[in-house]
Amino acid sequence: MEVVILQGSKQIGQLAADAVEALLRRKPDAVLGLATGSSPLPVYDELAARHERDGLDFSAAHAFALDEYVGLEHGHPESYREVIRREFTDRVNILPENVHTPDGAAEDLPAACRAYEDQMRSLGGVDLQLLGVGTDGHIGFNEPGSSFASRTRIKSLIEQTRRDNARFFPSLAEVPHHVVTQGLGTILEARHVVLIATGAQKAPTVRDFVEGPVSAICAASILQFHPHATILLDEAAASSLKLADFYRHTYDNKPAWQGL
Ligand code: GLP
Repeated sequence: MEVVILQGSKQIGQLAADAVEALLRRKPDAVLGLATGSSPLPVYDELAARHERDGLDFSAAHAFALDEYVGLEHGHPESYREVIRREFTDRVNILPENVHTPDGAAEDLPAACRAYEDQMRSLGGVDLQLLGVGTDGHIGFNEPGSSFASRTRIKSLIEQTRRDNARFFPSLAEVPHHVVTQGLGTILEARHVVLIATGAQKAPTVRDFVEGPVSAICAASILQFHPHATILLDEAAASSLKLADFYRHTYDNKPAWQGL
């Protein structure tokens, strides 16, 4: 795990966008893994700006979303398919048919989940996966207790997550109880994982998954097993880390050729 502590969201957005840009220039048909939530928004803003300003080209790229609510009809403004479209993919030149999201409205959910995994595999797997982290340590919607070997499947949300996400819905009652999410085993197969966490409310979660034991009770801790995981934090989210000074020193002295 590489922990990078930056001043704020703008710097985080730029650094993550640098990694996406370097990937696309090296591999124009790269497969991007997209996350919802507020954490990746500065990355999407920066990538949209680079597309507009410098012509950063997504025309051959594919994208897979991490997760989706179950029970929201197609086109619901808070379905992650719509959120991803609004926040990111409509703002760059990725082809709409190359943007994939799990189908939370499928009649046969297990079959739809298997098809999603097959589609990812047939395109060669995810090159760079953006992630946020829930206050309970979930990545995607892999709630505490999720199997480290899990694949895309249906999950139940814990109340804390429903409350955290209620800000996007008219009321808590309208936040679905069920979701479809890539599994922890799926996420672990992405070649590079970039997790973003900002704000003081994430500080205990960040301390737990970066420096605590690897445990299903804190799903993000599985990233300690990933060979190329980058954790981008602002000062507030990093404020409970024991080794913050070491991470700063390491990053400040990192050879430029290594990139992220
Ligand atoms: C949701 C998403 C996660 C995301 C999390 C954190 O639960 N399913 O993928 O990481 O929210 O969101 P935020 O970045 O807004 O804190």
